Amino acid sequence: MNPKRVLVAYGSKHGATRGIADEIGRTLQADGFEAVVLPADAVSDVSGYDGVVLGGALYAGHWNGKARRCARRNAEQLRHRPVWLFSSGPVDSSAEQRDIPPVPGVARRMKKLGAREHMTFGGAVTAETPGRISRSLVRHGKGGDFRNPERIQDWAHHIGTELGTTR
Ligand SMILES: Cc1cc2nc3c(=O)[nH]c(=O)nc-3n(C[C@H](O)[C@H](O)[C@H](O)COP(=O)(O)O)c2cc1C
Repeated sequence: MNPKRVLVAYGSKHGATRGIADEIGRTLQADGFEAVVLPADAVSDVSGYDGVVLGGALYAGHWNGKARRCARRNAEQLRHRPVWLFSSGPVDSSAEQRDIPPVPGVARRMKKLGAREHMTFGGAVTAETPGRISRSLVRHGKGGDFRNPERIQDWAHHIGTELGTTR
């Protein structure tokens, strides 16, 4: 029997969300899936996938535009397959301490797509992150990498369990 194919798509401005998507993809591959990780703006057709995970970075309370447009562009196909959404955001440990609900735009998207679940992961702003606000956050000791590989892997295993490995 063939392994199930899963697309992990991400909308990332500075790479933190891409790192989360890569971790999800690696975990699903280790669990026996054929997992493909792609930037959200490169996704034009999801019909070849048995499940889709779509994530976006949060900026000023909004999901990254590439993730938003990917969801809109592929809405019809996404409605007909299992979909999970995630956000990469808080640059503190809040996402470790409690479930952070999706921002309103993502909550609406979940409903439209019939997405199964949403997860908020801690994000990252480091000395390497470009931009004036990022530099200021880091300078004031408010930056850091709050992505927790274990938490990301746990969620990916959970998705794998829900999907079942073979076609
Ligand atoms: C200017 C700016 C605005 C941000 N706004 C939010 C926000 O509204 N909510 C949130 O949870 N995180 C916010 N963050 C944190 C980012 O979402 C986090 O750093 C994310 O992991 C970045 O992902 P990326 O590197 O893939 O773009 C903000 C960061 C910056 C630099």
